[in-house]
Amino acid sequence: MGNDISSVLAGNSPDADASQAALQAAAHAEFAQAVLDGLTGQPRSLPSRFLYDERGSELFEEITKLDEYYPTRAETALLQSHGADIAEHVGDADTLVEFGSGSSRKTSLLIDALDGLDTYIPIDVSESYLTEAAEWLAPQHDDLTIKPLVGDFTRMEALPDTARGQKLGFFSGSTIGNLTRDEATAFLLNAAQLLGRDSTFLVGIDLKKSPDILIPAYDDAEGVSASFSLNLLTRINRELDGNFDLARFGHRAVYNEREGRIEIYLESLADQSVRVLGRDIAFAEGERIHTEYSHKYSVSEFQALAATAGWRGMKAWTGDEGLFSLHLLRLN
Ligand SMILES: C[S@@+](CC[C@H](N)C(=O)[O-])C[C@H]1O[C@@H](n2cnc3c(N)ncnc32)[C@H](O)[C@@H]1O
Repeated sequence: MGNDISSVLAGNSPDADASQAALQAAAHAEFAQAVLDGLTGQPRSLPSRFLYDERGSELFEEITKLDEYYPTRAETALLQSHGADIAEHVGDADTLVEFGSGSSRKTSLLIDALDGLDTYIPIDVSESYLTEAAEWLAPQHDDLTIKPLVGDFTRMEALPDTARGQKLGFFSGSTIGNLTRDEATAFLLNAAQLLGRDSTFLVGIDLKKSPDILIPAYDDAEGVSASFSLNLLTRINRELDGNFDLARFGHRAVYNEREGRIEIYLESLADQSVRVLGRDIAFAEGERIHTEYSHKYSVSEFQALAATAGWRGMKAWTGDEGLFSLHLLRLN
């Protein structure tokens, strides 16, 4: 049996085209509102999910290959070394649901390790990522039904009907670290609703470590992380009639020890005024726009957080270097 990658991505009838156009219009309106609210509010901020347009997704893939960016290598190594043990602890799983799936490269290792998986539902805000990933995965997993879903994983109300049987969730790349602790708890509570009783959930968590390792991972020598941040301004210029001068903003990555998180900002390098959707917005030199958090946890801190949302830690795997961890949670 060949695999099936039909999805909400495909518009192949007039009705589907119309609903696709309505979804795109709603997404554009949501982006416009979030940008105007975020740039005119105090402190200034832009939600990190908007970093992932087509170019942003390409730049993130470049980041994952940088020497300084250890999380992808460390998580891949854990999946390669412990895939069989993870599969044994998961037991039966019919449907794999991945939140913020990106390129799905690491997921392929998990799919290989699992026996009897029937359906894979990758969920991402980036349609270009989902299309590329499904096309890459399909030939390698011939009997797997792949059903990509474009959407915001923080606001998912239900899984599609194709999510049948026993479910395993996957949240890789420490993407949960982009959420504040309260948002992460709300996400885990919602994931419990979506995945249901007796489901399991594999979550990748970046561990606390020296800022000497953390900072370069988010501010590399080649400047790929800076291009990834600044691309958000390019996106605002293109989609919201903006006139940000990229040469007048800088990428800043700082480690907030008290909160245990990396904070990413775009910093104005001059007193200046920027126009977005016909609105003039003034920036003082040194003023920052917050674009992303990356919270770091110890193994026990994350297990305690998951427990507040009803998830019991079954087992955690950490590599020899102690850089990254994979947590298998179960909902009882
Ligand atoms: C840090 S990347 C990790 C990608 C992949 N899981 C990995 O480990 O390589 C975050 C991914 O989550 C997606 N994403 C970010 N915020 C999202 C949201 N609110 N809803 C759905 N997807 C989101 C991005 O498009 C991106 O693919």
